[in-house]
Amino acid sequence: MKENIDKANLPQHIAIIMDGNGRWAKQKGSMRIFGHKSAVQSVREVTEGAAELGINYLTLYAFSTENWNRPALEVEALMQLLVSTIKSETKTLLKNNVRLSTIGDFNALPKKCQKELKEAMDLTRENTGLNLVLALSYSGKWELLQAVNAIVQEAKNNKDIPENIDEDFFRNYLETRNIPDPELLIRTSGEMRISNFLLWQIAYSELFFTDVLWPDFRKQHLYEALLSYQKRERRFGKTSEQLNESVGN
Ligand code: IPE
Ligand code: IPE
Ligand code: MG
Repeated sequence: MKENIDKANLPQHIAIIMDGNGRWAKQKGSMRIFGHKSAVQSVREVTEGAAELGINYLTLYAFSTENWNRPALEVEALMQLLVSTIKSETKTLLKNNVRLSTIGDFNALPKKCQKELKEAMDLTRENTGLNLVLALSYSGKWELLQAVNAIVQEAKNNKDIPENIDEDFFRNYLETRNIPDPELLIRTSGEMRISNFLLWQIAYSELFFTDVLWPDFRKQHLYEALLSYQKRERRFGKTSEQLNESVGN
């Protein structure tokens, strides 16, 4: 399948809502946390797969603002898993030239997680390959509100804020200020919703939904999503005829 992917028409940025760990575990008669642990292999696979293809940005929705409402034991287990995974994977990130960063309410994470993440981000800062972005304690509404609040604060502090705020101005206040919008958004586990993920940034993303549960997601599923993406005509409000007009017409 990989051979059929058009290298000239790859998204710069792929975002993934990694869903279905709990159901995957339940199907196996195991605890939900077993699903989360098994999900680490899928993260490895897509990271490697994206890096091999030369994708610039991969954003993984790992923990939402709303996920704090899960049972305390599950939240704790997820945070511990985050710490141990960052610890064990940093070597591989370095080897593969992957640069790690996060979006979301970093200060809401347990101190131990913050420390591990900071170390890994510092160590991988100079890497020039894939940018791996973990969305942690993230939600689209949270991000939009913190952008608005930051602008209001600056206005109060007499910073020059334009009369009419445009897209270019506003996007600088988003967590993703240095990241292009994802051209492709993938969600696993058959759920057809956005669950408060990148609300601003996915305005024109191509959406790909698959029934595959996240712990079963492998490189071939990434290729499948890319092949679907490459079959689509991205019109951005224009007509098909306009897009097919040759340059200069
Ligand atoms: C996704 O899997 C992982 C997180 C949201 C942290 P789930 O834990 O949501 O799995 P399901 O949806 O219950 O199967
Ligand atoms: C979305 O999955 C969040 C992450 C994948 C981190 P959820 O499983 O939390 O989403 P809902 O609650 O089913 O919409
Ligand atoms: Mg879920």
